[in-house]
Parts: sequence; C-alpha cells; structure tokens
Amino acid sequence: MNVYGKHYRTIWLSEDDQNVVQIIDQRHLPHKFIIEELTTVDEMAVAIKDMHIRGAGLIGAAAGWGMYLAALHAPEDGFMQSLIADGDRLKATRPTAVNLAWAVDRQIEAMAASADGKAAKVDLARKTAVAITDEDADYCRRIGEHGVSIIKEISKKKNGETVNILTHCNAGWLAFVDYGSATAPMYAAYDKGIDIHIWVDETRPRNQGARLTAWELGQHGIPHTVIADNVGGHLMQHGLVDMVITGTDRTTYTGDVGNKIGTYLKALAAFDNDVPFYTALPSSTFDWVMRDGVKEVPIEQRDGTEVRYIQGMHDGEITAVLLTPEDSPAANYAFDVTPARLVTGLITERGICDASEEGVLGLYPEKR
Ligand code: MRU
Repeated sequence: MNVYGKHYRTIWLSEDDQNVVQIIDQRHLPHKFIIEELTTVDEMAVAIKDMHIRGAGLIGAAAGWGMYLAALHAPEDGFMQSLIADGDRLKATRPTAVNLAWAVDRQIEAMAASADGKAAKVDLARKTAVAITDEDADYCRRIGEHGVSIIKEISKKKNGETVNILTHCNAGWLAFVDYGSATAPMYAAYDKGIDIHIWVDETRPRNQGARLTAWELGQHGIPHTVIADNVGGHLMQHGLVDMVITGTDRTTYTGDVGNKIGTYLKALAAFDNDVPFYTALPSSTFDWVMRDGVKEVPIEQRDGTEVRYIQGMHDGEITAVLLTPEDSPAANYAFDVTPARLVTGLITERGICDASEEGVLGLYPEKR
C-alpha cells in the first residue's frame, strides 16, 4: 500500500544486501516512518516480541524471514538442530498468532526435505520466505475481492448512502504484508467508488486502531473516525454501524475467533443489535487442530506497563506518560475469543463461509 504516495510492503529483503531484512518499525507510527534493518534471527525475535512488527500475517512473514536469517548463520555441522532451536525461540515470542508457528514449521519442513548442503538450503529458505510473503499479500488481495461483495450489497440496500463499518485493532496492511485482512474489503470498496466510512476502535492498551489503522486508512484517503473502545455498542444501538469486520490471530476450524482483546464485547453488541459481524482471515490463520477456541486458544499476557502508560507525541518527541496511580498493578490480557455463534461469516481467500466446522471445511475440504 502507499505511504506518502510510494508503494511499500511491511517486510522485504534489502535490494542492496541479501543478508539484511527490512521492516517498517511500527512502534513509531503514526508520528514517524522509520525503516529498521535486521540481520540475525535474534534481532527478528526481539522485533516480534517487542512489536516493532505485529499482526498475525506479518508475524508469519517475519518468522519466515527470521528462519532465513537463522539459516544464513547456522553452522554447517548441526545445521538442522540449530534451525530447530532458533525456530523454537521464534515460536516463543508471541503465543496467540498461529501464523508464527505455521511459518517456522513450513521453513523447517522445506529444509529438512532437502538433501543439499548449506548454501542450497539457505537459498531454499530465502525462496520459502518469499513464497510466504507473496502468498500473504495475494491471499489478502483475494479476501478483499470476496469481502467487497458484502459491502456492495449493503450499499445497494442503502441506495448508495454511506456504509458505516466498524473495525477493531489493526487488521490492516500493517498487520500483514499488504492489503490487510479486515481492511482489504474496505480498500476494494473505496477503490470501486462505494461510499464507506470506518469507525476505528482505538484498541487500548497499545492503541493499534488509533495509531495504525487510522494512519493507513488516512494514507489511502478512506473517511474514518477514531472512537474510544466503549463507543461501538452505543453506535450500534442507534443504527450507525452497518457491519463489523475484524481480523483474527487464530480461528479454530470450528469458527471460534481469537482476536485482539475487546473483540468479544463488540461481537456481543453486534449480535444484540442485529449488526452483521464478519472476520477476515487468510487460511494461514486457521488452527486446524483446536476445536474449542474459548478453552484452548493460548491468550498472551503482556507486561502491565502497556496498560499503566500511554504513548503519544509531545513537542516532536514520542513519549510515554503514566496513566494510573504509581503503585496500581495492571493486568494485560492481549486477546480474547469470540464464539462462532456470534460470528456472521468468515471472509477468506477462497470465499465467504459460515463460522462453523461445516462452513470452514466446506471451503477447505483437504483439511477434513
Ligand atoms: O497484538 P497485535 O497488534 O499483534 O494484534 C494483532 C492485531 O492487530 C489484531 O488482533 C488483529 O485484528 C488480527 S489480524 C492480524
């Protein structure tokens, strides 16, 4: 997508040096646009854990590139053991987004299947990272093509009046390689000239909505309004939300949606007000093993500092200020799970399906 008129992805291999992976360091957005260079798997692990990069699809692509860096530096002797250990370290950085483990395992399987020496394996790791990255962008683009039909339908029913869409956190192109999942149908609708407006949940404590979604929608020219996290229910009661589209970090094959904390409350409010609630995801975000998302999806708990402090721009500097009493402890549950019964449908690269085992396996019969 475009940043100040220039096309960027969120992660890429440096054109000048094949030993360097470049990322947009999202900690500084929306105030500063900074590109960071990573040269080791340890640097990649820190970038994922400390959220220089975040979002399910991007975490997957980052893991793919992290394994490429791991391969570059692995010893000739004990190459696979070294890779497996690095993969385990990457997997431990963030537990909820299933794309992370999926990408690490894809890399390890590809390299384990090759009988070649180190140089060829490194090349294979690079090609696999490129494939994961390109596939993520392509799948998100296709999510947009499918999802736009729902927006078009609502627009038709409203005789072309503005379609108001609420979204939570950032499931935009910054959370993937390009396009985003929840935002892909929005970009597609806007590009087709459909009148849309997005309600952007701020998404405490890290404010990915206020900081990132608002910024990327603004870069594309899409009308949007940032709202405090608790506003959505009120807007729905007053007919000001036509649909909700969220992303997800892990969705079970039975349709339970693990996503940024607060998503469940939005789904409850949408259900109570007959507002359609959709989740958009590439197939890399399905968990094909877990059945009961509420019981089984691992919920990341982050440092309470993120709740106690709030970050913003002051006098040209990005600063964090204390919000709570000095001594108050804070809990920081980063995700929750929305049961399938509250989800109207899942928008995937293969099409739209019910949030149910039948619906999901109908689109992905090879997973039966
Ligand atoms: O903690 P984050 O920022 O990595 O969380 C990811 C998210 O932004 C959301 O949960 C998103 O809606 C999921 S789609 C990538």
